[in-house]
Amino acid sequence: MPLPERFLDELLARTDIVDLVSESVRLTKKGSSYWGCCPFHSEKTPSFHVVPDRQMYKCFGCGKGGGAINYVMELENLPFKDAVAVLAQRVGMQVPEFGSSPGARERREKILEMNKQAARVFHRWLNGPEGAQGLQYLQSRGLSKRTLTNFGLGFAPNRWDGLITELSSQGYDKRDLLDAGLAVSSKDGRIYDRFRNRVMFPIIDVRGGVIGFGGRVMDDSTPKYLNSPDTPVYNKSRNVFALNIAKTSKAGRVILTEGYMDTISLHQAGFDSAVASLGTALTEEHGQLLSRYFKEAVIAYDGDGAGVKAAQRAIPILEKAGLKVKVLRVQGAKDPDELIKSYGREAFARLLDQSENQVDYRLAQIQKKYDLSDDGQRIAFLQEAAQLVAGLRSAVEREIYGGHAAQTAGVTPDTMKLEVDRALKGRLRKEKKQQERRDLAPASQLQPRARGLRYENIRSARAEEGLLRLLMLDPGLLGRMGELTGGEFSSPLLGRAFDRLAARAREGLSTQLAALAGEFTGEEMDHLAQVAAQPESVANSGQAIRDYISLIRGEGLLRGGGEQGDDLLLAAQKKYQRKKAYMEEKK
Ligand code: UTP
Ligand code: MN
Repeated sequence: MPLPERFLDELLARTDIVDLVSESVRLTKKGSSYWGCCPFHSEKTPSFHVVPDRQMYKCFGCGKGGGAINYVMELENLPFKDAVAVLAQRVGMQVPEFGSSPGARERREKILEMNKQAARVFHRWLNGPEGAQGLQYLQSRGLSKRTLTNFGLGFAPNRWDGLITELSSQGYDKRDLLDAGLAVSSKDGRIYDRFRNRVMFPIIDVRGGVIGFGGRVMDDSTPKYLNSPDTPVYNKSRNVFALNIAKTSKAGRVILTEGYMDTISLHQAGFDSAVASLGTALTEEHGQLLSRYFKEAVIAYDGDGAGVKAAQRAIPILEKAGLKVKVLRVQGAKDPDELIKSYGREAFARLLDQSENQVDYRLAQIQKKYDLSDDGQRIAFLQEAAQLVAGLRSAVEREIYGGHAAQTAGVTPDTMKLEVDRALKGRLRKEKKQQERRDLAPASQLQPRARGLRYENIRSARAEEGLLRLLMLDPGLLGRMGELTGGEFSSPLLGRAFDRLAARAREGLSTQLAALAGEFTGEEMDHLAQVAAQPESVANSGQAIRDYISLIRGEGLLRGGGEQGDDLLLAAQKKYQRKKAYMEEKK
């Protein structure tokens, strides 16, 4: 059963795209719209555009675009209906019945609620008679009462059905407990508590939901940590520990550690932007997630060989997500937790300040490939290092790191500078060529990115786009569009969108782009957002509509029209130039 249109309309009216996007992207106001770094691809300079007037977003980098519903679908990787549910909950609206079978969303919500109850029970046990040993263990690790409360730490007693009994009495059944990963089933079909005789670390996501747990033994037995399995609400490659707290930190840089205990120790010592990946190598999804809240990351992994290797793997992942990366080398201790315990918070603060820039790290990696006592290899090293240094954005950085490379290779800074300048020239030449190619092909810019949506007739498609834009800006204009239907459009996609919007306009419903989310694919929405983002004025719309329609019907050719189309072309080109100028200015 489709969602009632009026419900969607109300939902979209109550949802402000700027507020919504601001929850995950830092936006800066420029004129009447907003810019930020795109949450859907990695970038360092903002090309993500949010237009409050049209309640839409569009990324000029990766091409993604749409309205509020698409935004949530893309960001949270949710199907349409679940995204609608998220938005509805946000504004306090009740979603009408979708159908009979309980959906994935209800299932998720139930598990989240059950996890929250479980965390409460664990926490209660920690402070009760059964938890004495757990409490003593955590205190022996130097954790204060306040830290235990802040992180909601708990204790699972040494029983087979402690939690099962508690949660059953709250109405949860066997299937719920298994789905949440709180219980495991034995061969004979009975279930028992997954976590027994362990101190418990709840894992909380950025929205405050308890999504899973880690449980640590209190002695040397194995496994040291037992974690929740992947469940409908938990995926270890997509979540990091303590981001719910770190995301509000004013530190500006996230401190990435390997362990629960490292992160908790750092927080207790006042480093409130520490997080931990959860017993797994860092993934691109982790990187993306962190880049939503931070611009810079400091890797503070264990000081051993494994930690250094893991750090080297993490660098490119974090960089790809658009983060500036530094590496903190833990010295004289096994990990950040022990470092703070042995040498105090000041020692960590100092290391944080000295944390190595990843450029040095990468120079060292390049160096490893060559034998610098051999002249030929030394030249090869210099050339590769020069490429790296030429890629740095500021002249100061180029000078500093060029100097480091020169020192490594035993040449003068001036020699290195010549090499870097040559690499720089090569880069600029290449970029300029790409730029020119793009500038010379504005028509191809209007083409949808997705091959399947290509325009057959660009001139007509431009006019079709114009009509769509006008209809989105003012549904009242439908009356001036006569008998025109989407069937007359040269682009099937634009035609379908026109018919949908026209139908909505006739019903007195909103014709904003966001309203189309349920009926168009992500790719289609990306392109429709591209269309909607272009300039269009409702002033003199009567004439514009007549011109557009005659173009679509082929009459414009006879009348020698088509200026409107050229205007659009010009507009697209101008927009592109503006964007270019904006990017230059940012540099
Ligand atoms: P560590 O062994 O470094 O743990 O593993 P830690 O956090 O420093 O804990 P303490 O100080 O010994 O108490 C790093 C992370 O790897 C995961 C956990 O997330 C842990 O925090 N891990 C480790 C597991 O999931 N299972 C294990 O058996 C061990
Ligand atoms: Mn440790």
